[in-house]
Amino acid sequence: MSHKRVIVVGGGLAGLSTSMKLAEEGVAVDLFSLVPVKRSHSVCAQGGINACNDVARQQGYSEWEHFDETVFGGDFLANQPPVLEMARMAPSIIDMLDRMGVPFSRTPEGNRDLRLFGGSLYKRTFYAGATTGQQLLYALDEQVRHHEVQGHITKYEFWEFLAPVMDPEGRCVGIVAQDMRTMQIRSFRADAVVMATGGNGLLFGQSTMSIICTGSGTARCYQIGAKLGNPEFVQVHPTAIPGEDKCRLMSESARGEGGRLWVPKKRNDTRHPNDIPEAERDYFLERLYPKYKNIVPRDIATREIFYICEQGYGIGGGQMVYLDLTEKATGIPYETLKRKLGGILEIYKKFRGVDPLLEPMKIYPAVHYSMGGLWVDFARDDKTGGLKKADPRNQMTNITGLYAAGEADYQYHGANRLGANSLLSCIFTGLFMAPGIRKFIESRPPVADQSQQLYDTAVEKQKAAQTRLLNSKGSDNPYMLHRELGRAMSDNVTIIRCNSKLRQTLELIESLKDRFQNNLGLPDSGLWNNQSLAFARACWDMMLLSEAITMAALARDESRGSHFKIPDELMERHDLPLDQRSLPRDDEHWLKTTLVSYVDGKAVLSYEPVDVSLVAPRARNYGKVTAPAAPEGTKEPLAAAH
Ligand code: FUM
Repeated sequence: MSHKRVIVVGGGLAGLSTSMKLAEEGVAVDLFSLVPVKRSHSVCAQGGINACNDVARQQGYSEWEHFDETVFGGDFLANQPPVLEMARMAPSIIDMLDRMGVPFSRTPEGNRDLRLFGGSLYKRTFYAGATTGQQLLYALDEQVRHHEVQGHITKYEFWEFLAPVMDPEGRCVGIVAQDMRTMQIRSFRADAVVMATGGNGLLFGQSTMSIICTGSGTARCYQIGAKLGNPEFVQVHPTAIPGEDKCRLMSESARGEGGRLWVPKKRNDTRHPNDIPEAERDYFLERLYPKYKNIVPRDIATREIFYICEQGYGIGGGQMVYLDLTEKATGIPYETLKRKLGGILEIYKKFRGVDPLLEPMKIYPAVHYSMGGLWVDFARDDKTGGLKKADPRNQMTNITGLYAAGEADYQYHGANRLGANSLLSCIFTGLFMAPGIRKFIESRPPVADQSQQLYDTAVEKQKAAQTRLLNSKGSDNPYMLHRELGRAMSDNVTIIRCNSKLRQTLELIESLKDRFQNNLGLPDSGLWNNQSLAFARACWDMMLLSEAITMAALARDESRGSHFKIPDELMERHDLPLDQRSLPRDDEHWLKTTLVSYVDGKAVLSYEPVDVSLVAPRARNYGKVTAPAAPEGTKEPLAAAH
């Protein structure tokens, strides 16, 4: 093993695959995770992982198609070389996972089974029932344990990352972290640091993300100078169980396996869904997108659900639609769907008390994924169109020595991620970046030569910040500040956006920041397992990220992928369909990456070009039918609207 060490922060798929690959490269790893790695948010991923495969290949599919679907799905905002490299490596990643023992679902002949997923007409999604993330996480966890036993990896579970340690030249040389059991704060030296800390859904209040997904890892790097890329792009998943505490994902695989979205054709229909005959149901995605039907990409399905509810067709006139897996709607036998989707069916039963194979589910969109994240570099290979292998630039942030991977980076999904590309990008980034990191640490002077004072000062700074928080005696509780933040972010910065609401949100964030700094009061001032201390720190981070997201959304005067902007004066024109109210995509002015830097306590925006060297941007509407027949039994504006 090399005498140099790398710190990986985050125990999800990106963190584990990075750690495993670095260990294989002979690099010693310290792996930090706020929770036991097997409870990282990757465990919640349900539907599958995309890769070109032989069955799809026989029908004309290829790695190139996978690449093309991904950049098209992302509305051309992703740099293309990294996406091409990911699509090319995907089949070998599936083989690797299979060799590790992932229990991929099989056909009766024993081949790995495939399912449809959003944004593709080909079955190119491998899956393990409907608990794919869990199976992948557990398989990688076993690999990491193997390296742990060999002494290549040291795991620090229940440790919270507080900040990178920077040398006088502004390079990252380690981290400060806190043991959340003893509250000890200490520094760790590292020749490189990898942030694999996931997304930031909690800043929206409720989301499908775990409540550890505060974005703090990203925000703490942002505050010391790391740039954010495209933070305004936030994925709202079309199908979730709404909840007071959080929303629970109902996987896209439900639709990939034949599930159908519908609403009653009559407004305020109070009948039980099973009593509403076929002819009185509006399968609106099938009507609007006859080619892709229920598997249009998420940004599109989400907006159609929003719109149909806005028009008053949601269940009982409210904000929910049916996701129907019953045999009557799908024609698929009960036992087949039970076998393929067991994991999510159990979740629905647990939280709603109903068997979703016997009665349609009631669902609504919920925040699900951060396409934006830490800006990272890449080294394009002009010969292959993809990436240069083992190049230290791949996945490095603008801070020397600081890398990012998985949902914490911004690189692969552009303006909208395709379902089942997330597990892929997490594992790909980990595996692909590790040889480049090894090269980087071999070329840099060892951090063992850095003065101890540098690390002691970084620890003292965090201790002082902690003391300030513990001594705060104001009347604003961090949980209440977070609730106000989440409500505004959810209402104004998700499915549809308009500039006046974005401005209002920025004003609110400014006032919340002020209250945090001048009137905060912690419900617990103790130094034993103090949850409110950690939450208060995260609350500040969420405010800063919210500011960056909202500012970037305000500036981007176009619609692209998940960012859908309606001019103020058209917000209330419910007589017009959404796409006649919204700003169009504007490649001339906005085909560019947003960069956000934190300068003197403020978010500052700048832009850089997107690498679209492989496929030229084209219009994106998935064959939407513009003037379909009115749903039967209605004379309502919906017909005209579509
Ligand atoms: O719907 C799902 O199963 C989620 C998959 C994903 O976000 O990639």
